Amino acid sequence: MTYVPHPVRYSRMTYRRCGASGLKLPAISLGLWHNFGHDTAHQVKREICRTAFDHGITHFDLANNYGPPPGSAEEAFGGILRTDFAHHRDELIISSKAGYNMWQGPYGEWGSRKYLIASCDQSLKRMGLDYVDIFYSHRFDPDTPLEETMGALDHIVRSGRALYVGISSYSSAKTRQAAAILKDLGTPCVIHQPSYNILNRWVEKDGLRETLEDLGIGSIAFTPLAQGILTTKYLGGIPQGSRAAQGKSLNPATITPRAIESVRALDAIAQARGQTLAQMAIAWVLRDGKITTALIGASRPEQVVDCAGAIGNLAFTAHELAEIDRVSAEEDINLWARSSAE
Ligand SMILES: NC(=O)c1ccc[n+]([C@@H]2O[C@H](COP(=O)([O-])OP(=O)(O)OC[C@H]3O[C@@H](n4cnc5c(N)ncnc54)[C@H](OP(=O)(O)O)[C@@H]3O)[C@@H](O)[C@H]2O)c1
Repeated sequence: MTYVPHPVRYSRMTYRRCGASGLKLPAISLGLWHNFGHDTAHQVKREICRTAFDHGITHFDLANNYGPPPGSAEEAFGGILRTDFAHHRDELIISSKAGYNMWQGPYGEWGSRKYLIASCDQSLKRMGLDYVDIFYSHRFDPDTPLEETMGALDHIVRSGRALYVGISSYSSAKTRQAAAILKDLGTPCVIHQPSYNILNRWVEKDGLRETLEDLGIGSIAFTPLAQGILTTKYLGGIPQGSRAAQGKSLNPATITPRAIESVRALDAIAQARGQTLAQMAIAWVLRDGKITTALIGASRPEQVVDCAGAIGNLAFTAHELAEIDRVSAEEDINLWARSSAE
């Protein structure tokens, strides 16, 4: 059946300016890292994307390697663009990235001009797009001059392949260098994509949020739910079908008794706020306006609905924030720590 988007979708979402740019992003964005590969039925992917758009989520985040197999998430999203969103391209912000291993040989990963431009072309082809709205360097490459990686991003914009550029998992120090190079080239760095959640606070220690504010760069925090740990699903063990049961990016060993104790206490705080834990975890990331948008993932449309409900209460009292700090400890869950340590 022809998809007709929800008529009041834009009044269901809050839009926040991305740094000093003119681009507004929904407070909640949807990422297609998991559940958009060949391991998930196409209809589920469609329903997740439709539900997101129906709730005013206009930003869909992809990367060359999302799948499995790598590339299949972009292909699936390309299909959904054609069948469901064909008349809504100008209402969407679609991003992709290159940085991780995508194809064999020396030109299939990291940050060379050769890799970034070829990968961007492949992503456009898979999604059937003329341009992406945002193209990212997915990780800092210690072996390629930053000038080359940023020069490739600048070229990607100037050649019409992308409208804006961003960087992901770069440290504060490398972000300053990258932003300065891009500024000189005349293509500003519009957005940074770091991991950030209640149990993974590297950005606070690194000072990244303050750096971004200082530079006028927006931010999109990925894994705001710590890949699902910051929901109630693991309180009774590891449920079948959950990400931790799939042997992919969420190692069940990282869901320690201490983490579960934190999650239980955080859930009590969320309940007292009249929110689900997922909603509170998203609101926490967005709490002081330093993060532009929270980048969630979902395995079912119902999860998108729950997460979108977070915008109903983004404000915290000082007491709630102190309680969240008191009951939660940092867990060893930051898979991207190596990149941002460079
Ligand atoms: N730049 C980078 O290097 C990088 C790295 C990682 C991710 N990302 C981006 O960030 C996006 C989000 O990452 P993520 O999927 O790990 O984020 P996340 O939001 O922390 O975790 C998503 C998972 O949490 C569970 N979930 C979501 N909503 C729920 C709800 N309301 N109730 C219960 N469970 C819920 C689902 O797990 P189940 O599958 O168990 O149901 C879902 O797959 C990715 O898609 C990608 O776009 C970027």
